[in-house]
Amino acid sequence: MTEDVAVEKPKSEKTATLSEKKDVFENCIQTLGLKYIQRHVFICADQTKPNCCTKDVSLEAWNYLKRRLKELGLDHPTPELPSCIFRTKVNCLRVCIDGPILLVYPDGVWYRNATPEVIERIITEHLLGNKIVSEYAFLIQPLPSTPTPNNIIS
Ligand code: FES
Repeated sequence: MTEDVAVEKPKSEKTATLSEKKDVFENCIQTLGLKYIQRHVFICADQTKPNCCTKDVSLEAWNYLKRRLKELGLDHPTPELPSCIFRTKVNCLRVCIDGPILLVYPDGVWYRNATPEVIERIITEHLLGNKIVSEYAFLIQPLPSTPTPNNIIS
């Protein structure tokens, strides 16, 4: 369940029927394990304007995060662990100091200096151990609960 997974798509998005697009979305939901996401990790990396750290530092952090989630089997649901952790590289989280900046939702924990060493602690202590790495967290702002819309879209 990585961004590198090829999802089968219609030959042309412009000419695809609604039914064909629904099939593509359903394929994405299954292939990427979207129904099983427990946490979503965002990290600023490969920035257009690298303000919080250099592009190289951000890419090293992003690649480390991807690799470790995959190695630990956290990037896709399994029978033993039916939930997964989604990760997304974003251009900028608008904090732009002491990066890489890393954000964990739904917990709403904002981390600074997310180098591979710090990411390893975030994975081990926070994502697996449910304990925030407080020395690198500069804000804890969980998202407010909202009514869950019906997940079946007609
Ligand atoms: S460049 Fe990293 S938060 Fe803006």
